[in-house]
Amino acid sequence: MKKIMITGACGQIGSELVEKLRVEYGTENVLATDIRKPVSSSGPFEVLDVMDAERMYDIANAFGADTLMHMAALLSATAEKDPVFAWNLNMGGLMNALETARKLNLQFFTPSSIGAFGPSTPKDNTPQDTLQRPTTMYGVNKVAGELLCDYYYTHFGVDTRGVRFPGLISNVTPPGGGTTDYAVDIYYQAVEKGHYTSYIAEGTYMDMMYMPDALQAIVDLMEADSDTLVHRNAFNITAMSFTPEQIAASIQKVMPNFTMDYDVDPARQAIADSWPNSLDDSAAKAEWGFKAAYDLDKMTVDMLEKLRRKLYRTAS
Ligand code: SER
Repeated sequence: MKKIMITGACGQIGSELVEKLRVEYGTENVLATDIRKPVSSSGPFEVLDVMDAERMYDIANAFGADTLMHMAALLSATAEKDPVFAWNLNMGGLMNALETARKLNLQFFTPSSIGAFGPSTPKDNTPQDTLQRPTTMYGVNKVAGELLCDYYYTHFGVDTRGVRFPGLISNVTPPGGGTTDYAVDIYYQAVEKGHYTSYIAEGTYMDMMYMPDALQAIVDLMEADSDTLVHRNAFNITAMSFTPEQIAASIQKVMPNFTMDYDVDPARQAIADSWPNSLDDSAAKAEWGFKAAYDLDKMTVDMLEKLRRKLYRTAS
């Protein structure tokens, strides 16, 4: 990776990925693109609608990119509200990005998700290679995306790589329209109100990861020797698996007066119920050395500290 172009650069992952890559690879070597212009940009930026194949190709070509990271997509709950639009954007955008990568011979990354699994998938210690019959439009897009990326590797030799991200937790850019977002909201509400009402029911396990681990995983996978990769699209990775009451208990270790109750959202609960409880990430560990640094309590301490500083600064 020397000249990296990113789509969806203003999104939950993209906004932090751009900053990390600019530190590691040089500001001028990382081109951020998004459908909306950010208020400020720390380096090169182009407005790009990922549905515009020609413009995507032209921008990547003019920049002299050698790597494309395609991050633009709708998350699970939003996709359920408008499945046709989700299909068009998630699959159309991915096809345009893969075609750009094929024509310009770019290394390629796009994220898959725990959403690529469904109710018939083994729920505990979900294997790398297993049944994938998701029941959400987001999941259908993710499975099709994994297969497409494999297809571009085997048929055209495009160096495609990907991971199945669990719910991602960050204190920088809030997620939008995901099912795992409760695990981000809970920290904001803890700092602002000392209380959280969870839309996910007690006892619901989902895999999660702190954003610094997610960003490092992207870099490590992209820098891995191609010969060691057996799976490519897409590796199970996880850092922790918890229920709402377990994340609440972790917050109470730092904020003993924090309280939580429940007002379950049936739509997002149904999605959560169709996903695994915990992933087996042994293939990622064996093939490219994946390792997470943050567990639940370590993440909680860092989240609360950073959010206190951020929200205090915003309010003052
Ligand atoms: N965080 C995503 C969502 O909840 C899952 O990958 O939609």
